[in-house]
Amino acid sequence: MTTSTNYYPWGFIYEVFCFLAPMYVANSFALLLGGGKPLDLGKRFIDGRRLLGDGKTFRGAIGGFLFGGVVGFLLCGLGEGLTLASGSILGDIFASFLKRRLKLERGEPAPLLDQLDFYLFASLFFSIAYDLEIEIFLTGLIVTPISHLIGNLLAYSLKIKDRPY
Ligand code: CTP
Ligand code: MG
Repeated sequence: MTTSTNYYPWGFIYEVFCFLAPMYVANSFALLLGGGKPLDLGKRFIDGRRLLGDGKTFRGAIGGFLFGGVVGFLLCGLGEGLTLASGSILGDIFASFLKRRLKLERGEPAPLLDQLDFYLFASLFFSIAYDLEIEIFLTGLIVTPISHLIGNLLAYSLKIKDRPY
């Protein structure tokens, strides 16, 4: 006899939660702890624009990576946690590099890129080392832009962020 628990979605929801939480924590803590010395040290790319801009700092990157990594470690294991946290932080940095090349100033919106940069990178990193179920990936792909918008609105209303996106 199979148990009725097989038919409840909690297992799936928990798996999605474990996959997303380390990324969201990494991103949130980068915002909360960010500031100070920029990762690009103020340097410019060959197009004359900043390599990354003042929105990517050492404190944000390291703090986000550590907090996201710890949450990931507790929820799904050390390797998984470090993979998801580093993927998120690097994805966000890569997006800033692209934004500067597209002549967008720091903080200017890049719809979808801003919401999904960290998610796509973290998913890619994760899927190289671990088995990522397509259902989990697609659920995160839908949930993440919505969570990102809500999170940023919240950060704006709490005056942590000076723009609501
Ligand atoms: N932050 C940071 N270091 C990081 C990531 C984020 O210090 N590695 C902080 C910065 O204070 C940044 C804020 O979190 O301004 C919000 O992050 P994000 O929206 O990614 O940066 P933007 O300021 O919008 O800059 P960009 O246009 O480059 O995305
Ligand atoms: Mg931004």
